[in-house]
Amino acid sequence: MTEKHEDGTTRRSFMATGATAVAVTAAGVGIAGVAGSGQRAQGATLPLTPQCTDGDDTPPVIEGPYFRRNSPKRTNLRTTGVSGVLLSLTGFVYNIRCQPLGNVLLDFWQADQRGQYDNSTAQYRGRGHQFTNADGSYTLETIVPKDYPGRTPHIHVKVQAPNGPILTTQLYFPGDTKAYGMNVAQLNARDAYYITDTLIALGPLTSNRYAGKFDFVIKR
Ligand SMILES: [Fe+2]
Repeated sequence: MTEKHEDGTTRRSFMATGATAVAVTAAGVGIAGVAGSGQRAQGATLPLTPQCTDGDDTPPVIEGPYFRRNSPKRTNLRTTGVSGVLLSLTGFVYNIRCQPLGNVLLDFWQADQRGQYDNSTAQYRGRGHQFTNADGSYTLETIVPKDYPGRTPHIHVKVQAPNGPILTTQLYFPGDTKAYGMNVAQLNARDAYYITDTLIALGPLTSNRYAGKFDFVIKR
């Protein structure tokens, strides 16, 4: 398992054993053929995302050095100077009982098509926060970020339900992602922070655009 839970001792008792979690995962692989269906990647042939019913919440990944507070409220990060392979990312935020959560803060930040962060706070390029809709859904219009030294392409995000704890994690891309000449499979394999639990499920590349899906599952 590649999970990096820092607080595994707080998991709910009915999903407390690893044996239970594995059994559910194995049972779910059979129906994991649809992109975006939200199954865990382990044992499956397609890169898929965690699902609330597998008994696990979305694991944390390090914040890294480039988070900036007070990002603009926006769902479209394709602002001036940001271009590349387009990514339309959609999904839901659930609690571990599979209930969709509205009004959850999602604060995204990412590198651009050159693998660079805008670390000034003049324009907050590649940064934006939003709140999930009442049905738990969200949409992010952005680009596929390029890799940078030591890191495979990834999108950072902080997730927080009202008055809830903050989940800080990173979303990753399947190995066959085509953008900027990257060998994403090799980059993923070499990245110390890469985990399959937070892989975005990508559809086909069409007209320079990917549709991606990722569902968050948070303790709430
Ligand atoms: Fe980063």
